[in-house]
Amino acid sequence: MGAWGTWGMRQLPAEVAHELTVKFLEWGGLRFFMRPNLHPQVAGLTMNVPSIGQLPHPIGLAAGMDKNCQAPMGFADMGFAFLEMGTVTPRPQPGNPKPRLWRLKSQLALVNRMGFNNEGTKKIAERLKSQHWDHRATPLGINLGKNKDTPIERALDDYLCGIAEFAELSRYLVINISSPNTPGLRALAEKSFLQELARGAGSSLDKLWIKLDPDMTRRKFQEVIATVSECGFRGIILSNTHKVSYPYEGGVSGHPVFALANSCLEWAHEVHKGTLPTIASGGILCGADILQKIMRGALAVQILTALVYRGPWAVFELLRELTEELKLRGFSRLQDAVGTYYEGES
Ligand SMILES: Cc1cc2nc3c(=O)[nH]c(=O)nc-3n(C[C@H](O)[C@H](O)[C@H](O)COP(=O)(O)O)c2cc1C
Repeated sequence: MGAWGTWGMRQLPAEVAHELTVKFLEWGGLRFFMRPNLHPQVAGLTMNVPSIGQLPHPIGLAAGMDKNCQAPMGFADMGFAFLEMGTVTPRPQPGNPKPRLWRLKSQLALVNRMGFNNEGTKKIAERLKSQHWDHRATPLGINLGKNKDTPIERALDDYLCGIAEFAELSRYLVINISSPNTPGLRALAEKSFLQELARGAGSSLDKLWIKLDPDMTRRKFQEVIATVSECGFRGIILSNTHKVSYPYEGGVSGHPVFALANSCLEWAHEVHKGTLPTIASGGILCGADILQKIMRGALAVQILTALVYRGPWAVFELLRELTEELKLRGFSRLQDAVGTYYEGES
């Protein structure tokens, strides 16, 4: 599966290509083309992320690529240091009608309005159990959402259901209150919901990450960051897709969201001053992009759209580029770059 495979995939409708990729990985297809090289050990790139662990490098798989946790081994073979599966909702649901995923090639972007299509908590938890996943080799997290037909006043029950089911099975959990494709979901990014969630989560609180959207005003966003911090959540993932209505209704990912997600990292840092562990997501397409996120305070990053445009060797290529970029900027270890963007600020 070299350049031709990647080129061929791009001739197919985006969602068909996505489904084929996950099936191919589930069947162990990548192993025909490469000797699995679990976690490329690249000197100087190790990162320690609270509740996730010591990682050989900072690149993880973002939520939405493998919603049903079908192919964690295949994604681990691609070199990812950690994986996020989901979004999972308590009950199975079909998601929005197709088409619901588009490529914007000249922008290196995707627009999706998938709408949490997934097989539901029970089936996915059973699958994960049967995989006997070794989290020490590759930490795996589950991203949790609410069903579309759960009234927003009952949303807490949906998240607590996910927490109860996956707390023991996964290394970390993500509360997704940021998808633009489930009506009312983003309104959960507010104080009373987060406080109730923190209370309800009990001893799982220290493995709960909150994934936020990049479309709030600065003031609102910073209030939410302060609340997440006060409530004792493990950390934040910044950010989800940017809501758009043109050329399609949905969330845009890839290059157009890079600067917006960087602003979120900066706004968040103004509030927490480096005390709230952060994972960056949004528009990472090359190694230099990763360093920009780390310099803005992220301890790790996640990618999705880069897999579509750069193909199955994306992680290995990004790591090579990141190493070059580190050297160019005079860092001997990636850890030394964390938060350096803010140096000189009082
Ligand atoms: C097709 C697709 C499906 C996605 N599904 C989810 C999802 O289920 N849950 C979630 O939290 N984020 C989801 N996302 C957002 C990604 O996890 C990521 O935050 C976003 O795409 C920005 O990263 P990127 O620019 O590297 O793609 C999805 C993105 C895409 C493109």
